[in-house]
Amino acid sequence: MNTEMEIKKAANILANAKRTVASCGAGISAESGIATFRDPGGVWEKLNPAEVGTAGGLLNTLTNNPHKLMPFFIELLETFQNAEPNPAHLALGELERMGILQTVVTQNIDNLHIEAGNTDVIEVHGNGFRIRCISCGGSERLQRKQIIKDTLKKVREIKEFTLETIASLLPPCRNCLAPTRPDVVMFGEMVKDIPQAFDAARKCDVLLAIGTSGTVYPAAHLPFHAKESGAKIIVVNPNENAFSAVSDIYIPMKAGAAMDEIIKAIRRLMH
Ligand code: APR
Repeated sequence: MNTEMEIKKAANILANAKRTVASCGAGISAESGIATFRDPGGVWEKLNPAEVGTAGGLLNTLTNNPHKLMPFFIELLETFQNAEPNPAHLALGELERMGILQTVVTQNIDNLHIEAGNTDVIEVHGNGFRIRCISCGGSERLQRKQIIKDTLKKVREIKEFTLETIASLLPPCRNCLAPTRPDVVMFGEMVKDIPQAFDAARKCDVLLAIGTSGTVYPAAHLPFHAKESGAKIIVVNPNENAFSAVSDIYIPMKAGAAMDEIIKAIRRLMH
């Protein structure tokens, strides 16, 4: 079946859905300029997950070899500073306003779904613009562009990168003044809100899997869980991925163009 037909079928299914969930990965933010993890040139090609992907590894790298990491950290901050919600994020916000989409489950920490207007966003890997106290556990949501601007200004004033000077880049805890860390999930740490994510996948009748390779569990199980509960699975991904076998509709396109076409097709159906 050709892609145009798949888009029409997807629009039909979504327009008649009772409860739709979108399960998103790094690919939905690729067109916002944020590198994915496993594509050629991706994050894990540049950085060693053992050195930066676990809390212990990151602490060790920041303690013993901070200068190795800081150029990538500054590049990441600049990438996040310039990022905006792209047509795919905006389409999910539109689907919520149309009453079609209820929940976004995302593995991304870039805050772009919230900025695109979705109101029920389950961030299973946390949010890079929410900080958590390492002592009392209190968390605080920060304004993405402001905290990046402040952090980049501080970074450029640091003479010597040490664990202490790097830890001082984030504001202290509002409750107890202890140091804070980004409220993101590192490898080996507990993922967040998984019961809510699986509950949403079980209750939906359509699950849109957008821009995820399906490599990392438990998030990668969501499309299979939805399928087992009788949902239709629509996959949007320009490359082969773990969900081709479970998809009812597979749209081998970039998320921005695919979601734009789907929204246009739904609008034609609704008039
Ligand atoms: N539109 C849609 N999909 C895209 C696009 C695009 N423009 N560009 C790339 N993709 C697809 C790729 O084909 C790939 O299947 O996005 C997927 C990205 O896969 P990964 O890089 O593995 O990212 P993700 O699935 O989100 O990884 C899950 O791994 O390292 C951890 O915590 C990290 O949350 C991340 C998790």
